Amino acid sequence: MVHNGVIENYKEIKDSLLSKGYSFIGQTDSEIVSNLIEYSLTGNGDIKKAMMETMSRLNGSYAIALMMEGDLDHIYVMKKASPLVIGLGKGFNLLSSDASALIDYTDTFIELGDLEFGIIGKNDVSIFDLDGNPIKKEVIKKDIESISHDKRGYPHYMLKEIEEIPGVLNRLINLYSKKGSYTFDESLLREIRESDHIAFIACGTSYHASLVGSRYFEEAGKISSNHIASEWAYHPLLPGQRPFIIFLSQSGETADLIHCLKIAKERNVKTLVITNAGGSTLDRHCDYSLLLNAGIEISVASTKAYASQVALLYLLAGGFNGNKDAIDKLKGCVKAIRKIQKEDKGLVKEIAENIKSSKDVFYLGRGLDYRLSLEASLKLKEISYIHSEAIPGGELKHGPIALIEDGTPVIVFISEKATSSGMRGNIEEVKSRGAKVYVISTSSLHQEADAIIIDDYIEELSPIIFCSIAFYLAYYVSLLLGYNVD
Ligand code: M6R
Repeated sequence: MVHNGVIENYKEIKDSLLSKGYSFIGQTDSEIVSNLIEYSLTGNGDIKKAMMETMSRLNGSYAIALMMEGDLDHIYVMKKASPLVIGLGKGFNLLSSDASALIDYTDTFIELGDLEFGIIGKNDVSIFDLDGNPIKKEVIKKDIESISHDKRGYPHYMLKEIEEIPGVLNRLINLYSKKGSYTFDESLLREIRESDHIAFIACGTSYHASLVGSRYFEEAGKISSNHIASEWAYHPLLPGQRPFIIFLSQSGETADLIHCLKIAKERNVKTLVITNAGGSTLDRHCDYSLLLNAGIEISVASTKAYASQVALLYLLAGGFNGNKDAIDKLKGCVKAIRKIQKEDKGLVKEIAENIKSSKDVFYLGRGLDYRLSLEASLKLKEISYIHSEAIPGGELKHGPIALIEDGTPVIVFISEKATSSGMRGNIEEVKSRGAKVYVISTSSLHQEADAIIIDDYIEELSPIIFCSIAFYLAYYVSLLLGYNVD
C-alpha cells in the first residue's frame, strides 16, 4: 500500500485494532489503513465493501493505492483531500498524485474525487462512490509540457533549476508585458482594484514568496495579509467587505490549498492562483490563473518557482497600480542575477565549507531581508538536515540571542538602507556571544569584512537577486555532506 496524506484519527483506529489482536510493525498512520482493510475483508471477503468501510472510518487526507496478495491484475485506490490522477494508456493505466509525472506516457486522465474509490486494471478503470455506486468520470485531456529528464550537463536538477532563473524571469516578463505595457487580463486587474483586501494563502516556499509579494501590493496601495494555508483553513477569517484571495503554488496540487479553495468558494470569494502547473487542480478551479511558465521543477527544493513567483507578483502589483517602471526594473534585475551566478559561487562554497558541520545555522535580516531569510533557512534545513532558523534582527534580544554560542554560524542579509544600521548593531550583539558571522550585503551598504558584496540595484528587488546566493548555499552544504540534493 502507498499512502499520501495524514490519517488524523489513526490512534483511535490503532487502539481498536490492537484490542482485536492486530499488531503493528512501525509507527506510521498509513499502517492502520492496510490493517483496517484486512479486518473488513476478514468479515465479508469483499474488497469493495472493505474499501467502503475503511473510507467511512478514516478522518484526514489520503490518496491510497493498494494491491492484494494473490491479485496481481488490479490496483485499488481511494481518495480524500490528497490528489490522485489515473493516466489512461493503451494496454496500461498509471497512477500519480500529479498528471505532469505521467505526461511522457499519456495525456489522458481521470481525476478521482474526494470519497471516491476505484479498481484499476491494465485495460479497465472502475470508479465508485462511498455507497459503492459506479460513477461515470469525465476523461480529461491535459496539455502539459513534457518533463525533461535531461539535466543538461548539470550534476543535479537543483543546480540546473537555480541557473535557469534568469531565463525564466525573461520569459515571464515577455509573457506578462508587451512593448512596455502589461498584458494582464483587465477583469483580473479590476477584481484586484475593486477588492478592499488581498489575502495571500500558500505553504512553504510559496508562502515565503507571498511574504515578499504582499509587500509589493502594500507599497502599491493595497491592504494585504499573508496566511499559511494549513493555518487559515482552521480559522478562515477574511477582513473587509470584498476580499480577494491570491493562492501561490508551484505544483497547483497542494492539498492544504485545495482545502482553502473549497472554503473560498463556499464564501463566494474570488480567487487567483499563481502556479507553475497548467492543468493542475488550482489552475482549473480558481477564478483566475497566472502561469509561471518556469518549466517543471524536479528538485524537491523549490528555487526557480520562488524567484518567478516573486517576480510575477512584482509585475502584477505594477499592473494593478499602473506603474510601468516595474517591467524595466525587473529586466535589469535579470542582469544582476546572471552576474551573481557567474561570479559569486566560489564565495558561497567557502561559506558552505565553513558551516557544513554546524549543529545550528541562523539567518538574520529585517524587512525584505528577513522575508528572504525565512526562505534561505527553509532551503538549508530541507536539503542539508541542519537545524536552521530565521530571526528578524530586532527580535534577537527578545529571546533567540540565547541560542548563539561560540562559533554558531549566523548568516546576515543586508540590502535595505533603512534597516542596515539596525542589522550592523545585531551583528555586534551576536559576535559578542562568539557567533561566526557571514554578511551578504550590497556595495553601498557593505563593510570590509562582509563575505559577499553584491552590486547595488533596486532595493525592493533584493529577494529575487539575493535568493540565488541562498539557494547555492543550501545546495553546496548538502553536496558537501554527501546527500542526494534533489
Ligand atoms: O507546490 P507548492 O508551492 O504548493 O508547495 C508548497 C511547499 O510544499 C513547497 O514550496 C516546499 O516548501 C518546497 N519544497 C521547499 O523547497
